[in-house]
Amino acid sequence: METPEEKLLRKRSEALLGGGKERIEAQHKKGKLTARERIELLLDKGSFQEIGAFVTHRSNEFGLDKQKYLGDGVVTGYGTIDGREVFIFSQDFTIFGGSLSETFAEKICKIMDLAMKVGAPVIGLNDSGGARIQEGVVSLAGYADIFYRNTMASGVIPQISAIMGPCAGGAVYSPAITDFILMVENTSYMFVTGPNVVKTVTNETVTSEELGGAMTHATKSGVTHFALPNEMECIQHIKKLLSYIPQNCEETTPWVPYNDSMYPDASNIDNIIPDNPNLPYDIKQVIHAICDKDSFFEVHKDFAENIVVGFARLEGRAIGIVANQPAVLAGCLDIKASQKAARFVRFCDCFNIPLLTLVDVPGFLPGTDQEWNAIITNGAKLLYAFSEATVPRITVITRKAYGGAYDVMNSKHIGCDLNFAWPKAEIAVMGAKGAAEIIFKKEIETADNPAQKFAEKEQEYLRKFANPYRAANRGFVDEVIFPHETRQKLIQGFKFLENKAVKNPRKKHGNIPL
Ligand code: HXC
Repeated sequence: METPEEKLLRKRSEALLGGGKERIEAQHKKGKLTARERIELLLDKGSFQEIGAFVTHRSNEFGLDKQKYLGDGVVTGYGTIDGREVFIFSQDFTIFGGSLSETFAEKICKIMDLAMKVGAPVIGLNDSGGARIQEGVVSLAGYADIFYRNTMASGVIPQISAIMGPCAGGAVYSPAITDFILMVENTSYMFVTGPNVVKTVTNETVTSEELGGAMTHATKSGVTHFALPNEMECIQHIKKLLSYIPQNCEETTPWVPYNDSMYPDASNIDNIIPDNPNLPYDIKQVIHAICDKDSFFEVHKDFAENIVVGFARLEGRAIGIVANQPAVLAGCLDIKASQKAARFVRFCDCFNIPLLTLVDVPGFLPGTDQEWNAIITNGAKLLYAFSEATVPRITVITRKAYGGAYDVMNSKHIGCDLNFAWPKAEIAVMGAKGAAEIIFKKEIETADNPAQKFAEKEQEYLRKFANPYRAANRGFVDEVIFPHETRQKLIQGFKFLENKAVKNPRKKHGNIPL
């Protein structure tokens, strides 16, 4: 006769086996880890505390009453990452393909509720065949319970989703509401309808990878913020991402102890901007030269590369960076860049992460494609996101700041706290060529030598406006500085802004142009 203690031990080891040895082997053969292996790698050694290991489903349909597995397809609990508390759920593909049942959803909701009470991040490791087909609408209800909690938790605690297997149908909407998505190349995919349905409805032939694989979403749709080559790197990336993010919206930005070995290599910073204003350069060189050594952690690296966003540190303190990238599309703002940057600004503002904006923007991208797909509405998102951000905000204009894009890119007028311009900055309504064509049209047309006149007028406009001093005269720029002074100015600036306390007007919520 089994003693109560023996029974507990037996149940524990049964729970650890998930869907059984064979299915675990099948999972490994696909190059995937199991739900528990992933948790082991992600959390600090020995810190995981499981909740709900003995939960089983309540369904009797289609013979399910004869197939019960402890845990019911999702491992849930809490633990620490680098000593900080996190709540976690990890879908277990070895049990009914990680499909979501009523009890499965309840387990996830339970840890989300706890995370909200405690004020700690939730990490979801997704690997699931979607709704548990045998349970029907009960499963759909379970999804909705999770979506609702994702929404309520948004902006309160950080939510991170890693996609490590299939994620299809409506199931994609939980990750989509969370703050960051990471996908593993070749073993994960996300789509609302799979290749078979696509073929039937639109007659397109497409593979799962093409339709919704990691690189597709990292480059084309921007649905995922990160595409990682394997699960190990995905797990390391989650840890690194968390190191820049506070536990909840009440906490301040995290910091790591700083020492002089973290000083960046800034020897070339005064030579990064080319003498010819039409030549490109890589804004990441600037970021690396002003932030702590190796601290830049790029988000959405492969999407809308004409703008760069990510986290970095200044003397150990985390900041968020939004920077035009002159090396791609001359750094102009287009629909995707505006969406990418607006979402990042809003994330930083939710979680008290100070914002640094580096500006080198010739304007918005012209064209029918942009206009017909609503660059107006989308550009307004970035304008709105910056305008309502109450975190400390500093801007550095490295070169061009033209037209509406000057206003949008965290200008003084929309609430930037401190702003600097480098000596080669050009702050004007438009480029000298276009400006001369318009305001000196008659003079040029009636001149004996129109080409020469045009060149003269272009130079005149350049002399007057292609510099930072007009803006500095008006106080629109606080200081014109040498590039090599930037790091120190930022460190001091953010230190002085640390206690910034600004509240936007009381309202139910704003109406960002979605
Ligand atoms: C119940 C499921 C399941 C599901 C897989 N399984 N998906 N059980 N409900 N949704 C089970 C299988 O029966 C099998 O059980 C085991 O999980 C592994 O599945 P395989 O098919 O053998 O694995 P694989 O070949 O790797 O294919 C994985 C898969 C495929 C691509 C995910 O299983 C699949 O297409 N599943 C159905 C996906 C789907 O249509 N889901 C519903 C979408 S609608 P055994 O016992 O053999 O191990 C939806 C709506 C959500 O999700 C709406 C939210 C609002």
